[in-house]
Formats: sequence, structure tokens, C-alpha cells
Amino acid sequence: MVKASAPGKCILFGEHAVVYGQPALACSISQRMSIELEREDTFDSWRIDGRTFNGKKHPHIKYIRDHLPPHDEQPLHIRIRGTIPKASGLGSSAALSVALCGALQQIRDEPQNLQQASELSHQAEAQAQGGRASPMDTATSAYGGFVVLSDSIEEDLDFIETRSMEVNGERQEWHLHTFEATIPEGTALVIGNTGVHGSTSAMVLQVAELIQNEPTRKVELETIGAIARRGIQALRNGDMKAVGQAMSENHIVLRSLGVSSPDLERLIRAAAPSSLGVKMTGAGGGGCMIALTENPEETVGAIEMQGGRAFITAFNEPGLQIEHLT
Ligand code: PMV
Repeated sequence: MVKASAPGKCILFGEHAVVYGQPALACSISQRMSIELEREDTFDSWRIDGRTFNGKKHPHIKYIRDHLPPHDEQPLHIRIRGTIPKASGLGSSAALSVALCGALQQIRDEPQNLQQASELSHQAEAQAQGGRASPMDTATSAYGGFVVLSDSIEEDLDFIETRSMEVNGERQEWHLHTFEATIPEGTALVIGNTGVHGSTSAMVLQVAELIQNEPTRKVELETIGAIARRGIQALRNGDMKAVGQAMSENHIVLRSLGVSSPDLERLIRAAAPSSLGVKMTGAGGGGCMIALTENPEETVGAIEMQGGRAFITAFNEPGLQIEHLT
């Protein structure tokens, strides 16, 4: 039996605009997904949590399995465990895909290959999102920590790799970087979950249709890109007030793009007075919001008073990890 795990992520700046090549920043969170693989001796087909594997129900898993099959082609039993809520903007499917790559690399007796895990998972996400997916979720889940995507190679960040893909008939290129962020003592990130599932593919399609029907709205994506650049620089300078300000500005543009929801707005309004900055995170239409705060308990309480589920997440969580079984 082998086991691997990978973290979820939250997007501090740039969701949706990043699909069209604008800069963005995400960080890994404390919640993780884990995958256990065991050779299937009883049945002659793959199983998942005790049931026959159905590729239509699990397109990410099918894609990765088909690209990283066990050398002896023996069916496997996949067990999925984890604490990342589904369809909530926290990258549960990306974490699942990355963890599966890590587990399959072990089954194949291959050394851990983060680049392969990040790339294959990105392709699996793109397939599930109608061809529109940035590599942000999957790269953050694979590498962990803070991941910056940019339209150019940033000299003062640690460059990881360049990824490209065709989105809406246009070739997009993302340069992936990481950096060591020093978060001042007492500053925390609180995640608030509306409990409403949002569909990434539906929200990404909604933005694609909006800019197709009204091409001038592309300016909003560029505005998000400019805010993201400023926010990333503020984080690197340790200026958390400016980071919070940029997060709140980013949210206003996302709201005008139509990807927020009444539930998200309610939690954001509740968290704002005790926070440096608040925004939705991920695809939207439900899912989660985040608050950068120096009063985490107060912020958690305010979100919960409005019916959200809230928790404080750590920064700099490790990416893909092989879990050693005893
Ligand atoms: O909601 P999530 O965790 O699937 O994040 C989606 C982020 C988007 O920018 C909306 C899409 C993408 O592929 O980057």
C-alpha cells in the first residue's frame, strides 16, 4: 500500500483573471486530501472507496490513471480521505489529483516528481473545466507555500517553471514562481465557507461568455491583474495593511464580474470590520471567502454569526508529501 497527500489552496489575488494570463497569488492551506492505493486482489477492475471505479464520475482520477498507469497494469483500490470541502473554492479536486500523482509515482517505483504531478493535474483540471484552467490550484497543491503566476519571469522571485495551454482559442502562458513570505506575528488568514457548492466550470464559463459578449469587460480582468501585482509586492514588503486593501479591491472587481453570491457577500460584510481585507476565494458562485485579520477569533465569530463555517489556516503548508506507512 502507498499513500500521498497534498494541500488545498486559497487564492489571495487573481482568480478568473489568471485563466487569461493575468498575475495571481495563491497559498497552500492546512486542509489536505490524501490518497491510499492498494493492489486489488479480489476484483479484476479498479475500485474507489469500495465501489467499482466509474471514470465519468471521477474524470480527474481517470485522466491521471490513464497517464500514469501501474507498470504491471494490475487494478488498484483507491481510498480518498481529506478535510478539504468539495466545490468550495479551496482546490479539493486539484489536491486530490496531485496526491494521486504522488501515490502512482510510488506504485511505479519512480522518484517523487512535483513538476509531473503539477502538470498532469493541470491537464486533468482543464479537461474537467471545458479547457479553461490556469495551473494555479494544481501548482500550489504540488509545491506548497506561496505560488505566484505571472505573464513574465520575475527576476526577484524563485522561478519554478513555465506552463502554457490554449484557452478560448488563444495560447496562454504562465510563469510560475514561489517566494518565502514572512507573515508578521499576529496576522492570520480566516476562511469562511458559505456551505453552498459552486461549480468551477460553470463560473469560468460565465466569465468566458461575459467577455465574449462584451469584450470591453476584459478591462476588469486587467484591473484584477494590476491589483494582484500591487498585493504581491505588498506581501513581499510585509505591509499587511496594503495586502488587505488590495484583497478588498480585488473582491469589488470580482463582484462586478458577477462571480460573487449573496451568501458570500453576507459573510464578507460580517468579516470586514475586524479584518485588514476580505474577498471571495476561488471560482465563486458559493464556496468560500477569506479574511486577512489581526483579530482571528473575532473574525471567525462574526462569520459564524452569519451562518458560515469558519476556521483559521496556517501559512506555508508543505505541498505534495509521501506518507510513510508503518
Ligand atoms: O474554485 P477553485 O478552487 O476551482 O478555483 C478556481 C480558480 C479559477 O481562477 C476561477 C480557475 C482557474 O483555473 O484558475
